[in-house]
Amino acid sequence: MARRIKFFDTTLRDGEQTPGVSLNLQEKLEIALALERLGVDYVEAGFAIASNGDFEAIQGISEALKSTSVVSLARALEKDIDRAWDAVKSAVSPRIHIFLATSDIHMKYKLKMTEQEVLENSAKAVAYAKKFTGDVEFSPEDATRSRPEFLYRVLAGAIQAGATCLNIPDTVGYTNPEEYTRLIKGILANVPGIEKVEISVHCHNDLGLAAANSAAAAAAGASQIEGCINGLGERGGNAAIEELVMLFNTRRDYYQLDHNIDSTKINRTSKLISSLTGIYVQPHKPIVGANAFAHESGIHQHGVLEERTTYEIMTPESIGLTSNRMVLGKLSGKHAFVRRLEELGVVLDTDDAVNKAFGKFKALADRKKDVLDEDLLALADDNYDTKAKRFALVSFQISSGNRMINTATVRLKVGDDLVTNAATGDGPIDASYKAINEICGYGFTLKDYALRSVTGGHDALGEVNVKIECNGKVYLGRGVSTDIIESSILACLNAVNRVV
Ligand code: KIV
Ligand code: ZN
Repeated sequence: MARRIKFFDTTLRDGEQTPGVSLNLQEKLEIALALERLGVDYVEAGFAIASNGDFEAIQGISEALKSTSVVSLARALEKDIDRAWDAVKSAVSPRIHIFLATSDIHMKYKLKMTEQEVLENSAKAVAYAKKFTGDVEFSPEDATRSRPEFLYRVLAGAIQAGATCLNIPDTVGYTNPEEYTRLIKGILANVPGIEKVEISVHCHNDLGLAAANSAAAAAAGASQIEGCINGLGERGGNAAIEELVMLFNTRRDYYQLDHNIDSTKINRTSKLISSLTGIYVQPHKPIVGANAFAHESGIHQHGVLEERTTYEIMTPESIGLTSNRMVLGKLSGKHAFVRRLEELGVVLDTDDAVNKAFGKFKALADRKKDVLDEDLLALADDNYDTKAKRFALVSFQISSGNRMINTATVRLKVGDDLVTNAATGDGPIDASYKAINEICGYGFTLKDYALRSVTGGHDALGEVNVKIECNGKVYLGRGVSTDIIESSILACLNAVNRVV
């Protein structure tokens, strides 16, 4: 008989630890709402004590989500647990997630604690959290490099103190499916009271085994899987939730696991997260990469045309990709526009958001004959712009060539004023960024610049993602336009407005 597996999404916590990712409150809210629509059981919204930004995001998400549990991470310290509880207490079902390392190497070098201290502190922290909420998760960090006998004792202590979920993290992506299966079975056989609690798994992908390890653990009896959309996370990332969902759907004959995820929302959720984090998905990434459903070789194409299942084990439609690509043009009305966005899984929940997005669509349709689904998604993501728009583009003029001095004149609206500045540079983008830098006076440096075409064709939208550094902090910016200089300037201003 099929069992139910829960999905615990940590895109906003472990995923936000991806180098270069830093999301603002509005973006985190958008992602949390998308995760709720996708159907995850838990959203780990952050680490409340880490920063005020994390705290406010967890609080905002706790108020916004209607059915999904919201989780905050905490160390095994009362001050962390107090802060975590303050952040999640308004959620429909709040959970506090406590972690303390149990491997010799972490206890000796990082914690400088004895086994006895780790045993006592973990149980004490769980009991303390339990005063606030009935739902407490405990993670013995670096569990896969811990001595199993010691791990069993720590887990038993956490259960006795009231933990409802025990997570077994493969913190450094060290284990393999056979070894992890043995560990989960060992825990099931040796930890008193284990049958009363949830067993969760949390795998990092340093050796490329995160999804395989998670699936093996689920088959061995784990009932919750932690992961991130697009496999985001520290170093090599976490297990990619979309890969596990499609594995359980495609190989239901083998795993017999049911879950609450609506797989048709995978594509949209992945695109939204990629666009808001500025982390592109590699083309050959399973499930959500641009090539995941493409057939290049003639033999494969022939096979698929004769009978799809010769080379396709899942359909593009099952993750929400549609074959209906060319959709709207400049004569299309607001109704058709909103309906198509809804079909693509985009929810614009205020009239203001609809009008703003429709205005952008009309402007785009004037410049681009066919507005494709990818264009619509890029426009929709552009709507999640920073609220504080101190600097807005009014106009720009470029004089550029390979045998002349490249000059950019940029006119910005700064608060209520119009400010114009001209600068020269190595190329038109360098010149326009210098002009902006002089206007805003932040002295930022450009750390990263990436340009990609959203669709094919000479009139394709160009999407630019930049990272700028200002006062030791890195800010991401994104801009889209059919003109790559304009998208570059918009991306720069988007980043500069985050500094504000
Ligand atoms: O990888 C890890 O061990 C973690 C814990 C905090 C669960 O992220
Ligand atoms: Zn982790």
